[in-house]
Amino acid sequence: GRSWSQIGDLDDSAAGRSVLIRGAAQAIRPVSKKMAFVVLRQSMSTVQCVLVASADAGVSTQMVRFATAFSKESIVDVEGVVSLPKEPLKATTQQVEIQVRKIYCINRAIPTLPINLEDAARSEADFEKAELAGEKLVRVGQDTRLNYRAIDLRTPSNQAVFRIQCQVENKFREFLLSKDFVGIHTPKLISGSSEGGAAVFKLLYNGQPACLAQSPQLYKQMAICGGFERVFEVGPVFRAENSNTHRHLCEFVGLDAEMEIKEHYFEYLDKTLKLPYEEGVQMLKEAGTEIEPMGDLNTEAEKKLGRLVREKYNTDFFILYRYPLAVRPFYTMPCYDNPAYTNSFDVFIRGEEIISGAQRIHTPELLAKRATECGIDVSTISAYIESFSYGAPPHGGFGVGLERVVMLFCALNNIRKTSMFPRDPQRLVP
Ligand code: 4AD
Repeated sequence: GRSWSQIGDLDDSAAGRSVLIRGAAQAIRPVSKKMAFVVLRQSMSTVQCVLVASADAGVSTQMVRFATAFSKESIVDVEGVVSLPKEPLKATTQQVEIQVRKIYCINRAIPTLPINLEDAARSEADFEKAELAGEKLVRVGQDTRLNYRAIDLRTPSNQAVFRIQCQVENKFREFLLSKDFVGIHTPKLISGSSEGGAAVFKLLYNGQPACLAQSPQLYKQMAICGGFERVFEVGPVFRAENSNTHRHLCEFVGLDAEMEIKEHYFEYLDKTLKLPYEEGVQMLKEAGTEIEPMGDLNTEAEKKLGRLVREKYNTDFFILYRYPLAVRPFYTMPCYDNPAYTNSFDVFIRGEEIISGAQRIHTPELLAKRATECGIDVSTISAYIESFSYGAPPHGGFGVGLERVVMLFCALNNIRKTSMFPRDPQRLVP
């Protein structure tokens, strides 16, 4: 085959070289009958291609006219020679130009796209600047973006978000593999709810009532029972959320880990702020927010605690541990010294939960009792409970929401921005 160049690789050292590139026509600017510019884009890189009608270069005025008729975002091939511009280029990422010899339209985009990429790519700072200058810019709403996601994804910030997401997932995997965890895959079509509660998608499995897994929880524990000392899973998780929030999806990617435990390791986390739940409740109380002693923190209380922790301990990152029994899932191990509390924790970034974990109950009797107390029909999870009667080691683990973590790392305000094709209570397409 022929040798194709990547736009991102084109720098000064390529000057004088003949190249062949394929990209999306991000901008097309006719200058005169004899001259035009076409900016080509590949993911986050752009380069300016210059068409000048000249017999030497084998470029005709018809060819210049032909290229200026391309619709924006059409896929275009260019053969040309890399040159250095006379002045620094402001509109492209690459500081070289391509002197076009040949240009082909491989697949045209419709003449008017439903969203304009330039509008979609604008930052909040652009809007502020425009406002000061008395200009009016088009704001592309989140819903419109999601409706036309195949266009919206082309903005530099979206290209960055999903590359970051890939790296976060990769780091999770790499780290756990380096600690001898084994990656597993557990079923997503299951017979009973794994986290309890109403947030479960019900379906018929060959006529039998079933549901979509709310987490790999029960099966990752059964893998521990099955002799795998340390396991992890990266996979889809389904929650039939019925409220629209900035941080809940109906389908997200769960990063889960589960491991045997032999002793208490908590004290090894010396650099991370660890706050007992009771202390968090006390801090909130002193700041005027009353929490029911055995109740849960709502979103607002979590946010407020995040601010209080920031003021008192100067950190955005902390672990809240020893949650009340009543607010944790049935499989969570009660504290030995006070069974009204649990050996459990959540990890927060800026007052928003990203990780949830705990030691698990490893005796079948207590597990069945807790399930019943939590209103779960034990017959729907009998195989899970029985697994703990065949010899099961003490164990614990945690789950992280990939989209949630990326949203908070990137300081984005909506989880839909970190899900490529989000599923929320209203959205099933695209
Ligand atoms: O807190 P959750 O429900 O915990 C579990 O699923 C347990 N099985 C984990 C464990 O091993 N103990 O979910 C874990 C994480 C949350 O911390 C949050 O980051 C994310 O998943 N999460 C959601 N992300 C997006 N949309 C939702 N509806 C989410 N619900 C939870």
